Amino acid sequence: MTIACCACEKARTVHLYNFARVIDLRQLPKAELHVHVEGTFEPELIFTIAERNGIDPGYASVDALRAAYNFTDLQSFLNVYYAGMRVLRTERDYYDLATAYLERAAAQGVRHAEIFFDPQAHTDRGVPFATVVAGLTGALEAARERLRISAHLILCFLRDLSAESAMATLEVAIPYRNRIIAIGLDSAEVGNPPSKFATVFDRARAEGFLTVAHAGEEGPPEYVWEALDLLHAARIDHGVRSLEDPQLVERLRRQRIPLTVCPFSNVKLHVVADLAHHPLKRMLDAGLLATVNSDDPAYFGGYVADNFAGVVAALGLSDSDVIALAKNSFEASFVDDAKKRVHINEIDHFTAATSS
Ligand code: ADE
Ligand code: ZN
Repeated sequence: MTIACCACEKARTVHLYNFARVIDLRQLPKAELHVHVEGTFEPELIFTIAERNGIDPGYASVDALRAAYNFTDLQSFLNVYYAGMRVLRTERDYYDLATAYLERAAAQGVRHAEIFFDPQAHTDRGVPFATVVAGLTGALEAARERLRISAHLILCFLRDLSAESAMATLEVAIPYRNRIIAIGLDSAEVGNPPSKFATVFDRARAEGFLTVAHAGEEGPPEYVWEALDLLHAARIDHGVRSLEDPQLVERLRRQRIPLTVCPFSNVKLHVVADLAHHPLKRMLDAGLLATVNSDDPAYFGGYVADNFAGVVAALGLSDSDVIALAKNSFEASFVDDAKKRVHINEIDHFTAATSS
């Protein structure tokens, strides 16, 4: 059965999906490495939490809010994204937000998630950092047993704010080092190169954080070079524009630097024209360690298995491409090597059971 995508009728059609495959893409074990918890905030939950906190959600109805999800570029999305998260105020709000994501992720075959959060977008509104982290970590801990999903938090600096603001945020985060695995960099890319944050990232690494960075989404390949050379990013988030630079592709391939690719996001934000023109297959064919992720699934029309199904249909990915993407997701994750082996074995058992 082929089903047309839900949220895209008026905007851009990003995918057709068909879950009746030999490999059930929703059951296929996978890790999600690029998802912003604030980007999982579904309109229904925005309204529930706005009402609970006595805040005007800014739209007359859930449908009116969803109708505003028609983006022309990254900034047009970020405006709506930051407006939506304004209603988050209490520890319970953050707990409910992360729990809702983890439930959806578990239903899409996610066994492990590395989840971004944007503390400055909360602390700048007066919500204490401790409140945000307590709510998110509470949800992660509860999901471990109930949903059998493990998860880490990645703190992202907003790159359109100053390096001083990022450093102040890092200082607040240091006592929470055991609850935050890595530091990342997101928000408006062009004009805010990784070099702006080199000193803050040096300090973060000295404090024991791993580092990742959004680069090469809207910004040029030079930003990917900077993320690697100046921020020592262990993964590049997006990185689709890396393909414009053959020397960069060669480095990413040789050093097996993971790219956390987000197909629906790239279409919705006009980074690529449509899914049929998405470079994911070229990335795999070039030997890159690419993974598939949802980025901001509440805004872009689907969660991670939906993204898998979209690229399978649009790019004609083979079963071995799909299995490689699932294995890449664990290889690129921050779990230890023993856990990586357990997850990759699970994929092998799953595919053996499916094909027998
Ligand atoms: N914050 C949330 N989604 C983002 C994206 N796709 N790029 C940069 N910053 C983001
Ligand atoms: Zn992102």
